[in-house]
Amino acid sequence: MSENTAHPAYPVGLRLHGRRVVVVGGGTVAQRRLPALLAAGADLLLIAPDATPSVEAMARAGELTWRRRPYRHGDLDGAWYALVATDDPEVNASAAAEAEERRVWCVRTDDADLASAWTPATGRAAGVTVAVLTSGTGEAPRDPRRAAALRDAIVAGLSDGTLAAPQHRARTGGVALVGGGPGDPDLITVRGRRLLAEADVVVADRLGPRDLLDELPPHVEVVDAAKIPYGRAMAQEAINRALVDHAKAGKSVVRLKGGDPFVFGRGMEEAEQLSAEGIPVTVVPGISSAISVPGVAGIPVTHRGVAHEFTVVSGHVAPDDPRSLVDWPALARQRGTLVLLMAVEHIGAIADTLLAHGRPADTPVALLQEGTMATARRVDATLETVRERARAEGVRPPAVIVIGDVVAVGARP
Ligand SMILES: C[S@@+](CC[C@H](N)C(=O)[O-])C[C@H]1O[C@@H](n2cnc3c(N)ncnc32)[C@H](O)[C@@H]1O
Repeated sequence: MSENTAHPAYPVGLRLHGRRVVVVGGGTVAQRRLPALLAAGADLLLIAPDATPSVEAMARAGELTWRRRPYRHGDLDGAWYALVATDDPEVNASAAAEAEERRVWCVRTDDADLASAWTPATGRAAGVTVAVLTSGTGEAPRDPRRAAALRDAIVAGLSDGTLAAPQHRARTGGVALVGGGPGDPDLITVRGRRLLAEADVVVADRLGPRDLLDELPPHVEVVDAAKIPYGRAMAQEAINRALVDHAKAGKSVVRLKGGDPFVFGRGMEEAEQLSAEGIPVTVVPGISSAISVPGVAGIPVTHRGVAHEFTVVSGHVAPDDPRSLVDWPALARQRGTLVLLMAVEHIGAIADTLLAHGRPADTPVALLQEGTMATARRVDATLETVRERARAEGVRPPAVIVIGDVVAVGARP
C-alpha cells in the first residue's frame, strides 16, 4: 500500500453486476454502503461476526452471503472490489494488505490515506448518477463533507430542474399527471418538481402548490384549469382537450394536480382520455391532503391502541343525496378514523347521519382549513357541535375534516 498525496484520485464507474465484492465488517458503515452495492448487482460476500439488524435483514432476504465469523486471510479470493469497515484497525490492515496482494481495489473506512480506493459522495437524480470526490492531494486534501455538500447541491438542482441539464434525446410530447401535494411547495415529489421544470406547458388546478408556477421560465405556457368547489372555471372536457392538443403539438405537458392525482382528482379520467388518443402518460403520485393535512396539524390518521383503520370519504354530496355512493350507516358503526374531503358544505348533515347511526356524540372532530399553507387554521369540535362550530368559525374550503379519537392524540404543533 502506498500513501500518495501528490496525485488526485482517478474517478471510474465500476460495473459490478455479478462480480464478487467482499465487505469486511457488518456495522453501520457497511449498512450505509450495502444498498448501492446491491443496486449495482454485485455478488456480495459479507465477513463479520456480527451485523446491524438491517444488514442481518439483507442477509436473511438472500441479498448477500454472510460468513458469520471474523475475517481471515483468503476471504478476498475472487474479489473484484473490497470494502473494509470493521472497528478493529488490525483487522482492517490485514484485509487491506490481502487486497493489495491480490490487486483488489479496496476502500478502507478507518484510514482513507492507506486505502487504494475511495468512495465518492454519490446521488442519483434525473437519470444521472452524480459522484463527487474532493482532490485528495497535498494542496487540496480529501474533504468528504464538502463532497457530500456538493453532491447534495447537484442532486437538488437536477431534481428540481434549477440545474439545467438538457437531454439529448427525442422529446416524447407526452403528458405527466403530477400530484403536487397539499399546497406547500416543498411537498411535491422531486420527480414532480423536475418534470415541472422541464415542461413546455403546465395545466394547473387551483389547489396544489401554485407557488411553484412562479418559478417557471417565461416561455412555459400555464393553463389555469382552476376548478372551484361546486362549479367549474373550465369544464373537464376542455381540460382534456387542452392536454391532448398540447401533447399532439409535441409539447411536454404537465398536468399539475393538488394532492394525489387519483384521490378525488379525476386523474384516471384524464389518463384514459390521453391513452385513447395514443398519448403517453406518466403518473407521478403526490402527497394526498387526506393524510398530510392532518399529519402537519399533529393528527395521525392511525395510532396504536386508538385507530386501526382510516377511511377517506368525499362529502361533496349530502348523505341523503341519491348520487351518494357512501354507506354512511356502515361508517358510523366503525371505530376508526374518518377523513372527509370536500365536506365543508355538508358537514352538518354528515354529522347528523353519523350520530343517527350510532357514532358517539363526543367523538372529536378537527376541521383543517388550507392545511400546510401559510393561512392554515384548525377548528376543533365534536360530532355534536361541529355543525355550529364550522358555521360560527366561518370554515371554508379547502378543508380536511377528521373525525375520530385520533384527533385527541398528540400535542398540537
Ligand atoms: C377535489 S379534492 C382533491 C384531493 C386531492 N387530489 C388530494 O389527494 O389531496 C379537493 C379537496 O381536497 C382537500 N384539500 C386539498 N388540499 C387541501 C389543503 N391544503 N387543506 C385542506 N384541504 C385540502 C379539500 O377537502 C378539498 O375540497
